[in-house]
Amino acid sequence: THPLRVALLGCGVVGTEVARGILANPIDLAARVGAPVELAGIAVRSLDAERDPAIPRELLTTDAETLVDGADVVVEVMGGIEPARTLILRALERGAAVVTANKALLAAGGPELFEAADAAGVDLLYEAAVAGAIPIVRPIRESLAGDHVRRILGIVNGTTNFVLDKMATEGVELDQAVKEAQQLGYAEADPTADVDGYDAAAKAAILASLAFHTRVALADVAREGIRAVTADDVEWAKRTGHVIKLLAVAEVLGPVDDGEISVRVHPALVPADHPLASVRGAFNAVFVEADGAGPLMFYGQGAGGRPTASAVLGDVVSAARRRLTGGKGLRESKDQRFPVLPPEAAVTRF
Ligand code: NDP
Ligand code: HSE
Repeated sequence: THPLRVALLGCGVVGTEVARGILANPIDLAARVGAPVELAGIAVRSLDAERDPAIPRELLTTDAETLVDGADVVVEVMGGIEPARTLILRALERGAAVVTANKALLAAGGPELFEAADAAGVDLLYEAAVAGAIPIVRPIRESLAGDHVRRILGIVNGTTNFVLDKMATEGVELDQAVKEAQQLGYAEADPTADVDGYDAAAKAAILASLAFHTRVALADVAREGIRAVTADDVEWAKRTGHVIKLLAVAEVLGPVDDGEISVRVHPALVPADHPLASVRGAFNAVFVEADGAGPLMFYGQGAGGRPTASAVLGDVVSAARRRLTGGKGLRESKDQRFPVLPPEAAVTRF
């Protein structure tokens, strides 16, 4: 079988971990995909920047176009609108599947990209674009496709949750906590996107579009970030039995087939005994309420290189499998790494 060629656009916080994941697990990946997966190259801005020693220098290039042209699957983790948009369109037009973590681009120009993917009959997958490692895009788009989602509510930005948590537990100022979030790889290249709620609003727009089968753009989302939250506010919240959280809310107002939807991002006082209050650090949590399914809760690491790379790599495997099966859907795994124990040997560990 020919190897599947993966082009990686970006080798920063997320790209480095995606590259490590592909390079470290060739046998597992080949077993899950059904063909060897080859990292064809990594597009970066600078060839001289200091990088993780696991990244082979010979894979780096500044010629993203040529890299895209030779790929079966293109992984865009460079961020920003351009050149990410043009490169994704180029990949789709040439018949490559695309995996992206770029919520800013999807919220700003999603329809153009999805139309290009439809026209080419290839996948454009973006599980990592919302809530890092948490599987939330696929559950809403696929698992709940036969239900009526009424409401989505949660914490979808790891940086602001980390910052508010640090302010509450260590009494640090907002700016200091933002610097720490940057050092840990949680923040966007320009952390204004996190602090002022643009990142959460982009994610809310993506989730609302999926859940309510409509087009919600970034501009449709009412947005207030955490810039105005002071140490005094955080202290006052604590004294009154609350924590301050940046919430994203998307809900149907009125009948589900004939209503309006409201999508918004804003700081909120959450009672200290509410499950959202215990979401610490850069973790995220999303509650979904659907008519049939009832309440659902999704929780996990919402930012950071490895958690996000987990979601990206899952999409790479899905896209690669679908490519191999001619787009005819997922195959059952033939990966038999673990022997199956007889039922009497089953032990539950807590
Ligand atoms: P970084 O800033 O750490 O990395 C960006 C990478 O893209 C760098 O390697 C940079 O090259 C490369 N790059 C940027 N512009 C260009 C260009 N014009 N041409 C070629 N290469 C370019 O970003 P992150 O890894 O943090 O984020 C990447 C994407 O993933 C963003 O869309 C972000 O929103 C999303 N995301 C990030 C998460 C996180 O926790 N960090 C979580 C979920 C999604 P060089 O190294 O040479 O500078
Ligand atoms: N900057 C984003 C956050 C990265 O902090 O949530 C994950 O999308």
